[in-house]
Amino acid sequence: MQQLPNAVRRLRMNFVLSGTQIMDAAEDFRQAMVAGLNNEKSSLKMLRSYLPKPTGDEKGVYLAVDFGGTNVRVLKVELSGHGKCEILRQRSFPLVGKDYDYTSDQVDGKALFEFIAEQIKVMLPASSSYPLGFTFSYPSQQASINKAILINWTKEIKTAGIVGCDVVEIFGAALQCKNIECLPPRAVINDTVGTLLTSAYIDSDTSMGSICGTGHNTCYVESQEKYLSHGGKFNNCKPIGCGQEIINLEAGNFDRLPDTVYDHELDGDSDLPGHQRLEKMVSGQYIGEIMRLVVKDFVNNGLIFKDCRPEIFYTPYKIKAEDISVLIADESQGLEEVEAWLGSHCGVFDTLIEDRITMRTIASIIVTRSAQLIAATYYGILRHIDPQLKKNHTIAIDGSVYERVPGYAHKLKITLNNLLQDEASTVKIRLTKEGSGVGAAIAAALVQHQALPVYTK
Ligand code: GLC
Repeated sequence: MQQLPNAVRRLRMNFVLSGTQIMDAAEDFRQAMVAGLNNEKSSLKMLRSYLPKPTGDEKGVYLAVDFGGTNVRVLKVELSGHGKCEILRQRSFPLVGKDYDYTSDQVDGKALFEFIAEQIKVMLPASSSYPLGFTFSYPSQQASINKAILINWTKEIKTAGIVGCDVVEIFGAALQCKNIECLPPRAVINDTVGTLLTSAYIDSDTSMGSICGTGHNTCYVESQEKYLSHGGKFNNCKPIGCGQEIINLEAGNFDRLPDTVYDHELDGDSDLPGHQRLEKMVSGQYIGEIMRLVVKDFVNNGLIFKDCRPEIFYTPYKIKAEDISVLIADESQGLEEVEAWLGSHCGVFDTLIEDRITMRTIASIIVTRSAQLIAATYYGILRHIDPQLKKNHTIAIDGSVYERVPGYAHKLKITLNNLLQDEASTVKIRLTKEGSGVGAAIAAALVQHQALPVYTK
């Protein structure tokens, strides 16, 4: 009789972090940042962006292309200065359709970017030309503002022939091939950098940008002065702008984490085992799959849905982050929404209330851990930037998990406040929507306004 409550208790113990574990994760994260900056072994890539923060006075009309995951967006953005910006037009199109898939390893980079260029052409009237900013949300080693070599794909994308290549060059060639005049991209940025830029355009306290969506990652503003003298990443570099540079952590790859058997199973079966360990524990691409593995285990052990083995729990990636949101959102006494979801998605009807409660509890445990881990990384970054927390800091966040999973934003803030204690009032979180689109326009404007050096062949 006690089997199910005991199993749920064990699960909670293994997933939900104690205060000490959260603090340890934050400190490990901070240390990994320092190691990465000093070019020592670290799971954090600490990638340069070659961009400072904007002043808020950058102006002009720009074209932004946002390549985030399975959709690409093209936006025409007007920056009017004084922190004001407007999206004049936008168009989004999927990379995976009924009869095509540009994210598969059967398709190469040339075909992918020519497809994107064709879509841009549909949106642009003939002979219109705007400076172009490009958001490319994958780990890329930048050699300048407009040169980005893809290190590896993440978020289970597999398009062939791009890893190790400059995505700006491939994109530029595709634009040229389709006779598009805005070529080539003037700036290439990560989506976290776009989020930081967009928030900093209106709020100069912004010191971090983060995505909690399909993927997870964070960037922050580093003082170059600090590292010019110590060598490491900024060895032999001229300072950018006012001596500050945005650094993309590729935080999703952080790997010193208190993980569970389910995390190991998920990692082992993923495209790149051993990579993106944090991302695989927290982000929208994976939390549904963690849930599936836990529920499958419970079903196999005869703890829930006793007389059946619903197919969905035996099919990888069938449970999505959206499903987790549905389960958590149900606060009714009889958990009717959970029951309806079990019927429509799993083909299980007339379930026991214990089973419904268990499903909701599992979802909530997984989400709680996600918010705790991300808050721990933010705290680690804050302690690195400003050890005494003497200044105000805004953390700009975007992404479907942060925005749409019920209670997620609250859990994250509470965990961060507990870590910050008396200094909690110095740290603000700003939901920054459209950052990966608008940020690309701001980056293109920065190149012009601050005369930042670009790479030319
Ligand atoms: C993945 C990518 C990273 C991106 C994040 C959010 O972690 O590697 O570059 O910022 O997803 O989209």
